[in-house]
Amino acid sequence: MYRVGILTASDKGAAGQREDLSAGVIKEIISSAGWRVDDYRIVPDDLDAIRDALIDMVDREKLDLVLTTGGTGFSPRDITPEATKAVIDREVPGIPEVMRAVSLKKTSRAMLSRAVAGIRKSTLIINLPGSQKAVRECLDAIMDSLPHGLEILTGRTGECGHSA
Ligand code: MTE
Repeated sequence: MYRVGILTASDKGAAGQREDLSAGVIKEIISSAGWRVDDYRIVPDDLDAIRDALIDMVDREKLDLVLTTGGTGFSPRDITPEATKAVIDREVPGIPEVMRAVSLKKTSRAMLSRAVAGIRKSTLIINLPGSQKAVRECLDAIMDSLPHGLEILTGRTGECGHSA
């Protein structure tokens, strides 16, 4: 059972002008994996707000996994990857590589997501795009391998003995 946090970056969502349906999709997928969503926050597309939320979710809440949604595209306000890079100790390029590779089979627009993933302390942070469809497609692409990564990260196993 891993403790998961969801951070939505959305100006409209934070202002109460848009329902946060993508976070609902993340909750559904995480719950079906048997993990627990322990923290959910929504902040505007603002570098300081996203960075501060991520730091708090890792350093104080000590979540195992933080999934962000939104703000990975080209709009002038899209700043989630930069806020994530500002807080991680080690980047994990393979996760967004797989998300984009699998997503490209569904839409060529997958190339437009600048999502990154990385590790801060013992927490894995993964950016997901903003739409419900993209969230589902990206999580479906990576969920199989996340448990093993989290096992190693949280010290529950040190073994990579065989591939699943
Ligand atoms: N990835 C998947 N799997 N499915 C999608 O529909 N949409 C793309 C891309 N990644 C998409 C996707 C589009 S249209 C954009 S603009 C970028 O994600 C950035 O989205 P964001 O700004 O909401 O984060």
